[in-house]
Amino acid sequence: MERTVTSKPLTGDVFYPPPEIESQANVPEYETLYRRSLEDPQVFWAERAAELEWFQPWEEVLDDTEAPFFRWFVGGKTNIAYNCLERHVKTWRRNKLALIWEGEPGDTRSFSYHALDREVAKFANVLKSMGVKKGDIVSIYLPRIPEQVIAMLACARIGAAHSVVYGGFSVEALAERIEDAQSRVLVTADGGWLRGKIVELKQIADEAMARQPTIESCIVVRRTGQEIYMEAGRDYWWDDLMGLPIASPVCPSEPMDAEDLLFILYTSGTTGRPKGVVHTHGGYMVYTYTTLKYVFDLKEEDRYWCAADPGWITGHSYIVYAPLLNGATSFMYEGAPNYPYPNRWWRMIEKYGISILYTAPTAIRGLMRFGDAWPNRHDLSSLRLLGTVGEPINPEAWKWYYSVIGKERCPIMDTWWQTETGGFMITPLPITPLKPGSATRPFFGVEVDVVDDQGKPVPAGDEGYLVIKRPWPAMLRTIYRDPERYKNQYWSKFGHMYQTGDSARKDEDGYIWVIGRMDDVIKVSGYRLGTAEIESALVSHPAVAEAAAIGLPHELKGNAIHAYAVLRAGVEPSDRLAEELRNHVGHEIGPIAKPENITFVDGLPKTRSGKIMRRLLKARALGQPEGDISTLEE
Ligand code: WTA
Repeated sequence: MERTVTSKPLTGDVFYPPPEIESQANVPEYETLYRRSLEDPQVFWAERAAELEWFQPWEEVLDDTEAPFFRWFVGGKTNIAYNCLERHVKTWRRNKLALIWEGEPGDTRSFSYHALDREVAKFANVLKSMGVKKGDIVSIYLPRIPEQVIAMLACARIGAAHSVVYGGFSVEALAERIEDAQSRVLVTADGGWLRGKIVELKQIADEAMARQPTIESCIVVRRTGQEIYMEAGRDYWWDDLMGLPIASPVCPSEPMDAEDLLFILYTSGTTGRPKGVVHTHGGYMVYTYTTLKYVFDLKEEDRYWCAADPGWITGHSYIVYAPLLNGATSFMYEGAPNYPYPNRWWRMIEKYGISILYTAPTAIRGLMRFGDAWPNRHDLSSLRLLGTVGEPINPEAWKWYYSVIGKERCPIMDTWWQTETGGFMITPLPITPLKPGSATRPFFGVEVDVVDDQGKPVPAGDEGYLVIKRPWPAMLRTIYRDPERYKNQYWSKFGHMYQTGDSARKDEDGYIWVIGRMDDVIKVSGYRLGTAEIESALVSHPAVAEAAAIGLPHELKGNAIHAYAVLRAGVEPSDRLAEELRNHVGHEIGPIAKPENITFVDGLPKTRSGKIMRRLLKARALGQPEGDISTLEE
């Protein structure tokens, strides 16, 4: 195929890939393959899907007759967990390391593909013995320990879906997710280690189970070993169950329809309660497998570390599923990056010979502030590629990551994507010339644009809505039990285009620069929270009548939450009350959701229809012009 790449030099601050990376990249060229992937996406995805195992071939790659409810690999039967484990166990990879893990206190464990497969089969049988069947939803609330991976894969193996709740969430966040999923089984732990302290997961789970009594069985991993409450007939120790004869290591994967439910992951939206984003076995498998292989250029000898938490989409896709689908060796770490000292990460990169590091801008900024001496004390020469995700990376942090960590040898894959997209959407490849702060170009088969209110593309350099113009295999299928919300949220504004909720610019080279959320979602240290959740947590406190939350720029966290509270009649504002409210939000949602500060006000600016004008609160807090306030209530 002829190349139509213009040799016009790129504009701006450009970093070209080092020749040794470029010459060995899994994908040697972008433009031609990208064009071909758009000309015939079905052929492109069918070829990728054929690299994995199917129990029964698909009849149709994409069915769009009921758009926006798309179906991929229609009629195909497979199982993602089978492709993660059993497929490799049949080959030499049986004895390859699948997972290396280090706990915060310094304890370590590792699993070959054979060992991981065995643990997963055993736990799958444990779940079966508790009555878990195909189609059930198991809630998982664990620290970053191997059991997290094992539990997720065990669910997938028997055709149950998992709903993982991030271990940093707290009582109400856990309770409402259990309730929405109507889970009967919860997997948790006695606790987890963070900054040398125990996170009391079981205690939080007990409170959540008291609020949502759907849970009949709770399986508890012994992690910290401290004394905890165990309710007879409901709570069981993981290791006790795994020692029983029912925990046999033989449990073949259940053949699943490509469109069968794989997991629900709750994420924050514009309004109301978190929504359960639905992903399925087939398309998600093909997409996460391909994106990781191409973008992080996986080789057999790599030691890949995605430093996210399995409780968020980054962990689902790029700690659990994609690395195992690729037969890679992953590393996983339980605790805080700066515990006990700010060299913890750099020490582990040296110790384990990590070659790929994938993390978030907030972590980079956090470690940058301790200075260069900490990383410089360690041999980081095993690193080959770096990655970032979660929010726009500021060029200063990008350059520090590039020069001090990557020693100017390691390209940075700035991957833009969402819980809903399942995998990377806008991302460089190792061969892509990079511009710090830009996620560069769309992945194969992905068509994106930046448009105005009417859905028309805006000129290069202008800000607009970031949209996705055609379906892709790992797209969310719906919002669990709420298809209307799926349609309204993502497909109502521009009809046939998926609305991301982000604003962006496209430069004259076609590079995308994501600016940030345009809705009421706040990215705090890369974690996604909704103003509505924080507000309802505040209002659940007896002193508060009404509340509003906004995000304001923060040097380390990217955004920080600021809250406004109107108190009930007779309640006096005080610093103590503000502190109590902050802790209340921490107790209900989780420490990440604690507002930076709480301002007591007499009233909130509202539209005539009664909606809180957060935009106005934000403009006022930043001392910016108030903009159009014609809808403001008198
Ligand atoms: C933001 C995380 C800029 C964006 C995988 C998106 C980013 C939201 C990037 C989704 C990036 C993610 N550059 N912004 N590389 N990656 N975002 O669902 O606002 O937790 O809409 O998924 O994170 O957050 P979520």
